Amino acid sequence: MTVAPIDAVHAREILDNRLEPTLRVTVETETGTGRADVPCGRSRGEHEAHDLRDGDDRYRGRGVRQAVANVTERIAPELVGRDATDQRAIDATLLDLDGTPTKTNLGGNAITGVSLAVLRAGADATGLPLYRYLGGADAHVLPLPFFDLIEGGELAGGDLPFQEHQVVPVGADSVAEAVQWSAEVYYELGDIVRAEYGEASLNVGAEGGYNPIGIDDPREAFELELAAIEECGYEGEFALAADVAASHFYDPETETYALLGEAMTREDLIGFYADLVDTYPVVSLEDPLDQHDFAGVADLTDRLDIQIVGDDLFTTNPDRLRTGIDRDAANALLWKVNQVGTVTEAVEAARMATRNGYAVQVSERSGQTPDTWLADLAVGLDAGQIKTGVTRGERTEQYNRLLEIEAALGDAATFGPPGDTPLDR
Ligand code: PGA
Ligand code: ZN
Repeated sequence: MTVAPIDAVHAREILDNRLEPTLRVTVETETGTGRADVPCGRSRGEHEAHDLRDGDDRYRGRGVRQAVANVTERIAPELVGRDATDQRAIDATLLDLDGTPTKTNLGGNAITGVSLAVLRAGADATGLPLYRYLGGADAHVLPLPFFDLIEGGELAGGDLPFQEHQVVPVGADSVAEAVQWSAEVYYELGDIVRAEYGEASLNVGAEGGYNPIGIDDPREAFELELAAIEECGYEGEFALAADVAASHFYDPETETYALLGEAMTREDLIGFYADLVDTYPVVSLEDPLDQHDFAGVADLTDRLDIQIVGDDLFTTNPDRLRTGIDRDAANALLWKVNQVGTVTEAVEAARMATRNGYAVQVSERSGQTPDTWLADLAVGLDAGQIKTGVTRGERTEQYNRLLEIEAALGDAATFGPPGDTPLDR
């Protein structure tokens, strides 16, 4: 039985939060329509799916007209008449049509847009909210948010080497409580940052976190966050975490990391993390070492009793995740659909993670629109964790959608990852 035969697939060039072009794909079926906007990272892993850009005079080469044409001229004719609820088969067609491991032919951005719009069309045709369409009748777990209150690295202009210094409301019982507490800590942190580093430090980075001018020590960022948490009376209710994105301060020539004015070896850096975890309530570190260093990450995962998340390390790619699992590198997968391309591949990576005892943290990109498929997919996947920035509309809309889902589920909703994880401290 064909539930939702596809009538048409449209694509257009739209703008993301950075005023850069991206794709909006629409899939029309006889029984429903699906639309999805494509995100794009700035701090991209080397093994991500290819982000196809025009490279001509428009938008400094960042136009996506070629990717749009690939959707309308090459992909659409293959999908018309197919069933939008046949997600795996459609994604397989996309992979066949492209025929390259990193989607250089059609463009990872074109493929992600179509795959997500097909998912949405299937949900619409079946009359189900997206989270339930993906997660089934049992979908009920709202994710614990990681709030990137202080930014550095590639996402902000300051001197902080770590990309994200997150606060994690581990003591909260719901998204509503987590968001409220974290917002209060954000306001308080704003007062502290303004007083100590001046008004300009309130200018936010790519994901809406502060950017305190003059700080270059991640420990100082954590101190500020702890001070704000304490001032709000939430001591013990929050843990800390970071996306280190260590590849960005790694020098492959000398095999050292440029941190705090030193050239640290891998061993030095692991020692630095061990002290950090001893001194602060840090429960999770993302990409703590270079994205090629599976052996180093395995060693660190073994030595620190916390969550170690692979973002650039795995790029949501089942093959790379398999390598990590075989070597016991990291214990959590950062999950970004457009890093790999299709919904099917990304879901496969998430399942592989869970089956092997790895946690899954669903993630935004620094470039995106207010489209909220991310929030739905986090619930549908049963991920239990999400990072989706702090302020700016394309971030806050994700929280608004999570609040909406939580309210819709009512008493059926549960919050956060299952107990007995490294996040319980
Ligand atoms: P990106 O950064 O979206 O620019 O890749 C976020 C991250 O590294 O997690
Ligand atoms: Zn990252």
